[in-house]
Amino acid sequence: MDNSHKQPRHFLTLLDLTPEELRGLVRRASELKAIQHRGDIHESLRNKVLGMIFEKSSTRTRVSFEAGMAQLGGSALFLSPRDTQLGRGEPIEDTARVLSRMVDVIMIRTFEHEKVERFAAHSRVPVINGLTDLVHPCQLLADMQTWHEHRGDIKGRTAVWVGDGNNMCHSYINAARQFDFQLRIACPEGYDPDPAILEPAADRCEIVRDPMAAAAGADLIVTDVWASMGQEEEQARREAAFAGYQVTAAMMAEAKPDALFMHCLPAHRGEEVAAEVIDRPDSVVWDEAENRLHAQKALLEFLLAKG
Ligand code: CP
Ligand code: NVA
Repeated sequence: MDNSHKQPRHFLTLLDLTPEELRGLVRRASELKAIQHRGDIHESLRNKVLGMIFEKSSTRTRVSFEAGMAQLGGSALFLSPRDTQLGRGEPIEDTARVLSRMVDVIMIRTFEHEKVERFAAHSRVPVINGLTDLVHPCQLLADMQTWHEHRGDIKGRTAVWVGDGNNMCHSYINAARQFDFQLRIACPEGYDPDPAILEPAADRCEIVRDPMAAAAGADLIVTDVWASMGQEEEQARREAAFAGYQVTAAMMAEAKPDALFMHCLPAHRGEEVAAEVIDRPDSVVWDEAENRLHAQKALLEFLLAKG
C-alpha cells in the first residue's frame, strides 16, 4: 500500500489560505498577467492535468481554468455529470479517490458546499472550489487583484455589497476578514447572508438595509444576480423583493468620486445593475473577468507547489 501521500492543500473557501498567502497570490497573478501580455512562454505546470467537474453552467470559470492550464504547459479535462458516472450515482467519495490518482489538481462547481468538502476529504490532490451555493472564492481572487491593480491596497477601504446575501456575498464577507476591509451589506430582509459566515466577521461587516445609505462614501460597489443558479423558479418573487436594490448611476453618485463598480458576471442589465453603470467606459467588470485567468493560474501554481 502506498501511504506516501501527504495531505494536499485545498482551496474551498478564502479562509483556507492565510492573509499573507492570499496577498501573495494577488501579486503573483499580476506578474503572470504581465508575462501573458508580453507574450512570453511560462510553462510552470508542464504535463500537469487539471480535472474540472461542472454540475452547473459556466463561461468564465471553465474557460479561464482551461486556458490557464494550457498556457502553463498543462492540460484540463472538462467533466460533466451528464457523461460521467457521477450522474449515474457513483459516490462523490469514490470519484474523488479515483480521479485524484489520475490528475494533479481538481476543480469542482456544484450546488451543496458539503459535496466539495466530501470530495476534498477523499482526494490525494488539491481541490479548488469553482463555486458552490455557499461561496465563490476564485472570483474573489480576481476581484482583489482587480482592486489592487486599479487602486492599490484595499486594507481599511469600504466596500458595499448590494443585493442577495448569496455565495458571492459570503465570499466578500470572508474577503473583508482576510484582506482587512469594511463591508456594508445592503440586502432586503429575508435575503441576509448566512449568520455562520457573517458572525465571525462582525467587526468588519454590517447590514445596512437602505442601499443608498450603504453606498454613501463607499470605495467599491459590488452586486450579483438576484436569482442564482438553481433558483430560477424564484425569479419573479426575487424581482419583487429586490426592487430598489438595482445599482444605478444615482447610487454610484453617493459613493466616492473614484469608486469602482464590480460584478462577477453574468449580469442582468435592468435588474441588479443599470446598463449605464456596467457599460460605462471605466467599468472594471471586464478586467475582473480577465483576472479570473491570471488569479487562477497563480492559485494553480501555489497549490501544485504545496500539494
Ligand atoms: N463569474 C463566474 O464564475 O462566471 P461563470 O459562471 O461564467 O463561470
Ligand atoms: N451567484 C451567482 C454567481 C454566478 C457566477 C450564482 O451562483 O449563480
